[in-house]
Amino acid sequence: MNSKIISLYKNKLSDISKLSQARNLVTTRRDNDLNVIRNKKQLISFSCNDYLGLSKNKEVINESIKATKKYGSGSGASRLVSGNNPLYEELENLLAKYKKSESACVFGSGFLTNAGIIPALTSSKDLLLYDELSHSSTNIGLKLSNAKSIKFKHNDANHLESLLKKHRNNFFHCFIFTEGVFSMDGDRGKIRELAMLANKYDASIILDDAHGFGVLGQGRGSLHEFNPVPEVLIQMGTLSKAIGSYGGFVTAPKTIIKLLHSKARSLIYTTGLPPGTLAASLKALKIIIKKPDLTKIPYEHAKLFCKNAGLPTPESSIVSKILYDERHTIKASKIFENHGYYIGAIRPPTVPKNTSRLRFTFSSVHKKKDIKKLAQVSRNLFKD
Ligand SMILES: Cc1ncc(COP(=O)(O)O)c(C=O)c1O
Repeated sequence: MNSKIISLYKNKLSDISKLSQARNLVTTRRDNDLNVIRNKKQLISFSCNDYLGLSKNKEVINESIKATKKYGSGSGASRLVSGNNPLYEELENLLAKYKKSESACVFGSGFLTNAGIIPALTSSKDLLLYDELSHSSTNIGLKLSNAKSIKFKHNDANHLESLLKKHRNNFFHCFIFTEGVFSMDGDRGKIRELAMLANKYDASIILDDAHGFGVLGQGRGSLHEFNPVPEVLIQMGTLSKAIGSYGGFVTAPKTIIKLLHSKARSLIYTTGLPPGTLAASLKALKIIIKKPDLTKIPYEHAKLFCKNAGLPTPESSIVSKILYDERHTIKASKIFENHGYYIGAIRPPTVPKNTSRLRFTFSSVHKKKDIKKLAQVSRNLFKD
């Protein structure tokens, strides 16, 4: 009986392999904030979202150890039961203050944040308009919601407006989903244009700023790149990238956060984060607040790379080089590996068909000389 289903899965795996889209978990040791040991080679990693190297910061690690010793390795239950460690309150208060928001709520991860807040805050009477390149976690949240969802062309305010004109009046409320920085292309969301449309059509924006928080707007995030700051109802972020720890969060008016405590399933029906993880996030956030100049370095590094590699000026600390074909992309990643660099090969379904790419992420810990050498390898590889 079981053999039938196993053989079906084998066929599925073989189909994925034929497309060069099979994924393998490769053991990767991050021994220090710069290098990884992978396939028995020491490589400089340009594939990590630890934008400020805070996961390896001694003060952060010490705070995490202290909290683990004090409170234990796990939180023991859901936050709504007995897992609401005092560190949650401290972290949420600081996040809300830093993000200039009324209130904040920490979730188990960025993925769990999007998967939880969208169904919790929307109903079948609502319309959800989302960028076609929205992250997988937003797509899951949309699927879990009873609301009507329609995608708009990437960063295309005209297309969004045509959808608003056509559909807005048939629904009680409308939410527009975009991202501060799109994770696979590194381009920025057209937040100002979208905020104007939200205002015109009585809609609200939900912004995923997973890749903007800690690195743009002096660390406060993508919205703080603008003056005046565009009106956005709800922002989500992650504690797993620039913060160098683990978890996700949402900042919003108090009433919304209160409602999430009673309605967001990915908050209610899961165990709270380990105390050591909360303490690490808290310390990392304090470091960012104290050293806003640190937050600018990843983007400066990405610009230095692009300038030296002859690539267009990037919009964030993520640089994508689209090579279209899966095999070609894997081969290019191997060439970088042979030169001592680890660069992720990103393939469908993470990105649309025929847009396989190398994705370079820059961190404050990278050294300028390594970035320039990497740029030289890229220049030679992509010269035609
Ligand atoms: C745009 C975006 N949103 C959400 C997430 C999920 O965040 P986390 O890694 O904390 O689950 C990611 C992670 O890759 C992301 O890139």
